Amino acid sequence: MKIPSELIDEVRSEVNILDIVSQKVQLHKSGKNWFGFCPFHPENTPSFSVNEQKQIFNCFSCHRGGNVYKFIMESEGLTFPEAFIRVAELGNVHLDPKYLQTNALDSTQSSENGKLIDLYQKANQLYHHILVNTELGQDALDYLHKREINDDLIEKFQLGYAPETDILKNFVKEKKIDYQLLRKSGLFIEHSTNSDNPIDNLTDRFKGRVMFPIRNENAHPIAFSGRILNQVDVSIPKYLNSPETPIFNKRRVLFNLDKAKVTMRQNKSVILFEGFMDVISAYKAGVTNGVASMGTSLTDEQVRILSHLVSNLSICYDGDDPGQKATKRALEMLMPLEHFDLGVINLPDKLDPDEVIKKYGADKFKEFTIDRRETPINFFMRYYAKGINLENENDQLTYITAILKELATIKDPIERDLYLNRLASRFGIEYQNLESQLQSLITQQQQNRQESEYANFPKDHRSFNDYQKEITNSINLTDSETKYSRIEKAERLLLYRLLHDHSVWVKVHEIENFTFIHENYQTIYVVAEGYFNQYNEFKSAVFLDYVQDEQLQKMITDLEMEEYLGEATNKEIDDCINLIMDEYPIDEKLKIIEQKINKAKRMNDSQQLMSLIMEKTNLLRQKDVMKSTLI
Ligand code: UTP
Ligand code: MN
Repeated sequence: MKIPSELIDEVRSEVNILDIVSQKVQLHKSGKNWFGFCPFHPENTPSFSVNEQKQIFNCFSCHRGGNVYKFIMESEGLTFPEAFIRVAELGNVHLDPKYLQTNALDSTQSSENGKLIDLYQKANQLYHHILVNTELGQDALDYLHKREINDDLIEKFQLGYAPETDILKNFVKEKKIDYQLLRKSGLFIEHSTNSDNPIDNLTDRFKGRVMFPIRNENAHPIAFSGRILNQVDVSIPKYLNSPETPIFNKRRVLFNLDKAKVTMRQNKSVILFEGFMDVISAYKAGVTNGVASMGTSLTDEQVRILSHLVSNLSICYDGDDPGQKATKRALEMLMPLEHFDLGVINLPDKLDPDEVIKKYGADKFKEFTIDRRETPINFFMRYYAKGINLENENDQLTYITAILKELATIKDPIERDLYLNRLASRFGIEYQNLESQLQSLITQQQQNRQESEYANFPKDHRSFNDYQKEITNSINLTDSETKYSRIEKAERLLLYRLLHDHSVWVKVHEIENFTFIHENYQTIYVVAEGYFNQYNEFKSAVFLDYVQDEQLQKMITDLEMEEYLGEATNKEIDDCINLIMDEYPIDEKLKIIEQKINKAKRMNDSQQLMSLIMEKTNLLRQKDVMKSTLI
């Protein structure tokens, strides 16, 4: 049973978050906000704050935040329905007894997303049942056992098997599930037939595959990855993932985050793996803070999620060449952030973690994650030495230059010094020489950075400095100054303004093809449309319950704490819009669409293809419009 949103609103409005937080945290007023020590982690300087006017809380350090329900959920470890009842008690709201039985309440609330999750849950149960209880699943079960995935792990990860038949389709046919929901779920492939029953147009997407459910942070299944059981044809992908759906955004999901989170919070560290099998084997070996991205390289969004949870990150990719290349890419993305204590686990014999565990055993693997953890620079020293002859002077020079380039990105002078000394003694070069070469590389990198900033800068007559000053003034930020790129700052400001000021909303809405560049902001924008259909005015605390998705809630709270000053001005809004719709991002978007189109073609997904082509046409048109206004 669903709690009506009116009731959720009513109960929330009966309490003041400030009173409730004050019972657990000592708060002092400073400016608009109340500050105190975050109750969710130990800290020496207060980074926790409550905004009474917006009825939200936020911690700048651990990034927990939300409305009063969220605070109760976090501080008392309750589910949403439980927190709802608790807040009603605190606000002396008398609830109809039917709402007092939390097990009858649906904690996902039955939005479309809730229905999709529900469908995934059912599919997961079905696939799992087939694997563990039926003849159909026997081969897959044997396969997993052979790979030393025992029944405990199969249970823990709810692994399953999708047989060669249309088992899921036949299952949902009986359950009479809405056809549009089935289409959107991505669990099926659509063909056109002449049948009267639209379900006959569908076939199962996953066939003959061992099924790994992918869960969101709240442990709800939102996608699958299926590993082929018998790979006869190498042109068929070994792992097949669910397509993107309203609940599954590949860029944001990390396999096993729901389970790993517990250990990650405890020891503030995470291990990144390449494959699902690696995560599961590591889990079996007692390394329970492992996650994997979805068969793609690490994304900004994933990094952001991890940065909120841990400060220590180890990369444990495969020991083979592609794995090492991916390690390099990940390091080059993570190092400039200066957030993580980074390490690379250097596995022996070019093996992947799963194979290492098989060959050396669980204990040895656990030891490796500590003993064979090396610093990024040590990794690069090994990486660049591969395939060259360090006795040869030319090769030496190339090698040293490559290492110096990596060193130039390191901010800590002591660490830089350490490696400079090492290089100097290893190759018998004067320390001073290396040092001055490094300095010139650092200067060069700074220049490059400034130039690329300048290249993205809107092409009008104002100077870069003026512009920066202006944006900095209008976006009165403290730490987000350094945290976000210029474009992202503009996106945040615009999103904030359009939520809070209806005239801005209307203005942006009228721009054909307007989209935010970062998917998260676009999602919030799209969700807000639904919100405004239901509510007349924007209230953060209300919107947060409407949104439901935990990650989005965090982002909204974070945005809400920005406290942009004053009212929106036309100029400010126009600047933001122009910046966001500038040419460069369109090209980026086109690239992404192109990839999706290729994929849709491969998958024979004509429905998807059609909408992608339309999207592409819109972008091209948008690009044309931009060009003509720039000239
Ligand atoms: P690997 O091929 O290294 O996976 O790909 P693995 O875990 O060692 O696979 P096993 O041991 O043969 O079962 C690493 C990851 O890349 C993605 C998957 O997420 C996989 O876990 N991948 C791989 C795909 O998405 N598609 C593929 O065809 C192959
Ligand atoms: Mn493997």
